[in-house]
Amino acid sequence: MAGERGMTTQVSRRTLLRASSIALTGTLLAAGGTVRAGGHDGAARRPAGVRMAANENPYGPSAAARAAIRDSVEDIWQYAFGQEQALRRLIAEAEDLSPEHVLITAGSAEAIQLAGLVYGLERGTMVTARTTFTLTTDYAQMIGCKVVSVPLDDTLTHDLPAMAAAITPDTSLFYVCNPNNPTGTMVPGSELLPFVSEVARRTTVLVDEAYLDLEDDMAAHTAVPLVAAGEDVIVTRTFSKLHALAGLRIGYALAQPEVVARLENFRMGVLNLAGLRAAEASLQDREWQQLSRNRIRTARELTNSWIDELGLRRAASHGNFVFFDTRAPAADFAAAMRERGFLLGRPYADYPEWSRISLGTVDQMRAFADAARGYFAGKLG
Ligand SMILES: Cc1ncc(COP(=O)(O)O)c(C=O)c1O
Repeated sequence: MAGERGMTTQVSRRTLLRASSIALTGTLLAAGGTVRAGGHDGAARRPAGVRMAANENPYGPSAAARAAIRDSVEDIWQYAFGQEQALRRLIAEAEDLSPEHVLITAGSAEAIQLAGLVYGLERGTMVTARTTFTLTTDYAQMIGCKVVSVPLDDTLTHDLPAMAAAITPDTSLFYVCNPNNPTGTMVPGSELLPFVSEVARRTTVLVDEAYLDLEDDMAAHTAVPLVAAGEDVIVTRTFSKLHALAGLRIGYALAQPEVVARLENFRMGVLNLAGLRAAEASLQDREWQQLSRNRIRTARELTNSWIDELGLRRAASHGNFVFFDTRAPAADFAAAMRERGFLLGRPYADYPEWSRISLGTVDQMRAFADAARGYFAGKLG
């Protein structure tokens, strides 16, 4: 056992850094990225098409967040050492927790990778769904942890009983993405909370709530009450989706204070000062959050309706994306849409004919609906 731990800590920093840069590059390629308009340093970058691969929020941040970013320029020469305390307190207050329960991170990706690392070092097993977001378990796998991934059910929702059955005495972490990426399906709080509470007696549970703030009744579904009750549960959230601050990299984890301290020990970077200020402003602008929520819902309903009209199957999405069955290789659909100026992501191994569409603006989704109707015309019997 001591030998195993020794081996684990020998995993080089280079391996980890290489792995995270590969993951990032993959995401950027999938998102289509941008191309330089000029070619000189600092030249404006023009998008190579409408970005529909990374579940971003193309409306951009609130006026309050934009002002906070502009104001932060005066202080941007400073390291943000300790400057997360104001945001930490705001989040703690909003969630009825102490600041010690809150870890502010560089996007929620940092929080879930930290969990992958810290619990992965135990080199037991991690239980997750298939297909889901894999950042936690990919990280754990690279350092020698075994990942058990349990297929989604017929509605593309987490199969909780089957996942519970996969827990063994050496399971170090149980990951649930709610709503799930890439399907967008959500397990309601009334079902999820008693389940997670039960599982947390056996192993640590991470509930990834990156998309939960898109729900009007988020309070009915969040697993945070379990953190407040002292259970062995980590909840992660982000400012990248509803708040449209993906490029400023701010997220957080809510967990027991000793878990927060344990995760924080492994942090690799220093937080982003402009991002912290923007997140503080955005978190307090409830009215704008509702506007953002409504716009995403409109774009989603519009997208659901052409998919339903064409009689294609789709998952019941609660995210800012829709997962649907193209009835042919999803790569063909993506290639056809790319020609029409829409940049979709890669297909998913278990669902090669399903495409995940990250929602653009309502106008972009109208244009996308026309393009998709054109693609499917004459193709569906
Ligand atoms: C389920 C899920 N969790 C976490 C993240 C990470 O987002 P961020 O690091 O921007 O908070 C994403 C990003 O797409 C996601 O889909």
